[in-house]
Amino acid sequence: IYQGDVAAGKSKSAACAACHGADGNSLAPIYPVLAGQSANYLAKQLEDFKSGDRKDPVMAGMVAGLSPEDMHDLAAYFAVQTTKAGTGETNEAGHKLYIGGDSTREIAACIACHGVTGKGVKQAGFPGLTGQSQEYLTKQLVSFRDGTRNNDNNGIMRNIAIKLSDANIEAVTQYITSL
Ligand code: HEM
Ligand code: HEM
Repeated sequence: IYQGDVAAGKSKSAACAACHGADGNSLAPIYPVLAGQSANYLAKQLEDFKSGDRKDPVMAGMVAGLSPEDMHDLAAYFAVQTTKAGTGETNEAGHKLYIGGDSTREIAACIACHGVTGKGVKQAGFPGLTGQSQEYLTKQLVSFRDGTRNNDNNGIMRNIAIKLSDANIEAVTQYITSL
């Protein structure tokens, strides 16, 4: 499988900079940070926007002209950029849910896949969450919960999100911004 070329990715990334920043540190809270993200995960998202498995009108337009090679090059470029640490506040309820899940409601702990410091598990394609805004994180969890984002293989995130209350989502997303 083609792993992508960082230099080629850089030269193809000008079209992304207006929203995601030249180095993948995005320019507004609604745009996800791409810097330091798992390359496997980034390439999968681009493929999913193209196939329609993940729906976003803006990104659908962006990927329409990209080949599989372009997607891997772009993913390789953004993956090696530096993520900025979060600057948000921690909170007790969010910390507890992130590290321990909730066994009474069979909610798996986020830490198992997204890691102690929120960096994810790169080879497995488990995305890093560090540096993302609370707004973006909330939008994704709500979308997994209501099914409008359903590109997570086997419903891995949906099965968790359907058990999260609005208060759970508010607490855990705020906690993640502290990582
Ligand atoms: C999401 C890549 C251009 C707006 C994403 C994601 C990737 C990506 C990989 C998913 C990130 C994640 O799941 O954490 C790219 C690349 C671009 C590009 C490689 C250039 C070829 C743009 C531009 C805009 C934009 C120019 C704004 C006009 C967005 C938005 C989302 C997003 C709003 C979030 C969609 C949602 O809420 O689910 N992009 N992007 N992107 N991108 Fe881009
Ligand atoms: C994606 C949060 C638990 C596996 C995501 C995303 C968020 C998130 C916000 C979207 C990332 C982005 O768009 O950039 C959480 C929270 C959890 C949790 C708050 C705990 C309550 C888990 C667990 C696993 C997991 C336990 C593994 C068993 C994944 C995977 C994706 C993902 C594979 C990417 C799906 C795709 O390909 O689009 N998670 N997660 N997560 N999460 Fe979790």
